[in-house]
Amino acid sequence: MTAAGVTAVAYPNIALVKYWGKRDEQWGLPVTGSLSMTLDCFPTTTRVAPAPGARADRVIINGQTAEGAARVRRFLDLVRTLADRPEPAMVESVNAGPTAAGLASSAAGFAALAAAAASAYGLRLDGRALSRLARRGSGSACRSVFGGFVQWHAGTADGPAGDAGSYAEPVPVGAVEPALVVAMTDTGSKAVPSREAMRRTLATSPLYRAWAESSQDDLCRLRSALRQGDLGTVGEIAEHNALGMHATMLAARPAIRYLSGASLAVLDQVASLRAGGVLAYATIDAGPNVVVLCARDDAPRVAAALGEVDQVRSVHVAGPGPGVAIRQGEGR
Ligand code: ADP
Ligand code: DP6
Ligand code: CO
Repeated sequence: MTAAGVTAVAYPNIALVKYWGKRDEQWGLPVTGSLSMTLDCFPTTTRVAPAPGARADRVIINGQTAEGAARVRRFLDLVRTLADRPEPAMVESVNAGPTAAGLASSAAGFAALAAAAASAYGLRLDGRALSRLARRGSGSACRSVFGGFVQWHAGTADGPAGDAGSYAEPVPVGAVEPALVVAMTDTGSKAVPSREAMRRTLATSPLYRAWAESSQDDLCRLRSALRQGDLGTVGEIAEHNALGMHATMLAARPAIRYLSGASLAVLDQVASLRAGGVLAYATIDAGPNVVVLCARDDAPRVAAALGEVDQVRSVHVAGPGPGVAIRQGEGR
């Protein structure tokens, strides 16, 4: 390991209004804006060390050299172009959470990689520029650059002109102490990666345009509900937006179905909690695991109820977590 190695830590984020679909694949520009909460659990730790003497990049993710390496190399090429430095790198990354299971490993992974690589190659980027860079690795990663609640602005133009306008930034929230309770049903990796699933949805689902249109309205209403600290409205919008996203996939050809029997059992339990007077609302990414939004004070009760569902393997309570950071004593 060379002295110039830099380590960054980033956390996954779970969107309350989802990003699903790109208007420009090459530049990673989304069709719609989205808004998420960064978690305080399941960090990704990534070390990048430029290796001037090496012939090629060496990439190790979760102890493995093949899975995901090509995507990391393409991202490093981008960083090398921006930094005007040609040398290969040694990259080592570990996800504390499950990879490719619908719990935002690509978000934490590429936020950490963007921060570590930018620093290791001498790029000086502010938060906004770093979020734009992370976006090129995985769209959702632009939001993990920041902590707490974060909005990704879609922007309008396409191609290089659209790049500047598509970034993430923290959003103000009112007096509310939210928690996201993760009901883990399956930590295995999904059959269809998010990237391919959203591509197919855009190309074949007759429901996609309707969801994208209503998503803009959801985003607008979510922002104001968050500002007012109205957790019930925040949750209602989030559940509506996520189920609508899954509906677009179910109507794709061939259909993409991330929801499992276990996911539905958790949705039932969330409905029972609400019937019992607890403010709890579900959201689900591209995977079978369910994330439940509730007030921090209700989180123990919500976690206990989710743990009672047969198919739930484990339950994790997350609060708002920090943005990406370079590990102390390293970087420039
Ligand atoms: P998820 O729901 O976990 O975000 P995705 O399909 O969006 O699933 O992304 C999974 C892919 O993200 C992996 O196959 C890999 O290419 C990439 N990825 C995950 N973790 C990392 C990491 N720590 N470093 C680099 N790339 C990663
Ligand atoms: C369902 O960011 O993983 O989690 O940009 O192709 O890497 P790529 O996709 P990714 O998609 C995330 C989809 C989602 C919703 C969200 O995080 O907003
Ligand atoms: Co992802």
